[in-house]
Amino acid sequence: MDHFNYRDGVLHAEDVSLADIAASVGTPAYVYSSATFERHFKVFDEALDGMPHLVCYAMKACSNLAVLKLLGDLGAGMDVVSEGEFRRALAAGVPGERIVFSGVGKTPAEMRFALEHGVRQFNVESAEELEVLSQVASGMGKTAPITLRVNPDVDAKTHAKIATGKSENKFGVPIADARQVYARAAALPGIEVVGVDVHIGSQLVDLQPFEDAFSIVADFVGQLRADGHAIRRLDLGGGLGIPYRRANEAPPLPFDYGALIKRTVGHLGCEVEVEPGRLIAGNAGVLIASVIYRKQGAGREFLILDAAMNDLIRPAMYDAWHDIVPVIEPAPGTESLPVDVVGPVCESGDTFAKGRALPPVGAGELVAFRSAGAYGAVMSSEYNSRLMVPEVLVKGDQFAVVRPRPTFDEMLARDTIPQWLD
Ligand code: LLP
Repeated sequence: MDHFNYRDGVLHAEDVSLADIAASVGTPAYVYSSATFERHFKVFDEALDGMPHLVCYAMKACSNLAVLKLLGDLGAGMDVVSEGEFRRALAAGVPGERIVFSGVGKTPAEMRFALEHGVRQFNVESAEELEVLSQVASGMGKTAPITLRVNPDVDAKTHAKIATGKSENKFGVPIADARQVYARAAALPGIEVVGVDVHIGSQLVDLQPFEDAFSIVADFVGQLRADGHAIRRLDLGGGLGIPYRRANEAPPLPFDYGALIKRTVGHLGCEVEVEPGRLIAGNAGVLIASVIYRKQGAGREFLILDAAMNDLIRPAMYDAWHDIVPVIEPAPGTESLPVDVVGPVCESGDTFAKGRALPPVGAGELVAFRSAGAYGAVMSSEYNSRLMVPEVLVKGDQFAVVRPRPTFDEMLARDTIPQWLD
């Protein structure tokens, strides 16, 4: 469920017309709904009611400070994968004790920063990382709480670029080797083993791979405890999918996912952490764009927008589907016609949809990409020297620009010409 609906014939974010936002901020622009963020966080949190838990929002999905502040104030923890993300969490007022640090390539500098700020735990992804973390932490006279991310070799049945739990993926320690790495962790100075971590992929629309992975983890915890490790925490990662095609997709609900967690690992008496990103942010955001031209091609029509692959890369990168709707509601009975929806960037990959049935929208009119809150603005770039896309947050009948569109002067001012070229 989200809070983007037609009212009086115009698509609104909560109580604000997207046409009004477009008139004030320009297009393209991302627009987020506070109420949807809040609802998704609470639904997830409630799904784990009855067991000690912390929902650590995977901020890689959408890391605007305003969004982090909103979620942090609701009690969310944060899953971060870089010092930059760690700094964002702190800047939004989330204390280190609610921040988990994931990622396969943490540098010593990042480890130091996290330890200085009282990180809740490191999700360690290799034996090599463990050795470095031990040196860094003991050099600082500190102890690093760790889980080891185990790779359970489970097929997440999602797009190959976002599956992470198979043995061929770069993530985690193969479960067959993990016991040995835990033994090493227990012997190393500056390391305290607190739990086990697993994350098998993103946009999972079936619970079975989760069930397989969590059951493997539950068995593994038994072995670790028999080996003498005090396992008290389980980080079960993120990955629950969302409906991108509203008309015909119904992925499992957080409630069912929560029930599955209780069924598979509830008996272990561990505190559970989850790291949802997409489920919290995805349907909390839309990307609004204007039609520049409706171009007649050879046997096809192109809708050329002022948004491009640099603003929303998911269709080009993962062949992802986003529902596209006109901001002005079509009259009942309006016929939809197939169009190729594209951006102005100079490559054919800059295509959002091919042969998409859309009601007639012409030059100057507005469209919205739905489900664009996750992995939208965060993956945007300035490719083709297009200005970074702005972000707007709505709450009730108010809206605020939470990241402005830079000016061309600001963009150019970041580059410098070396003296020898002057
Ligand atoms: N935890 C870890 C360790 C992760 O690597 C990820 C996502 C998450 C949690 C959050 O997963 P989620 O709940 O959002 O599925 N850019 C891609 C998705 C990349 C996901 C990377 N890792 C996309 O646009 O589909």
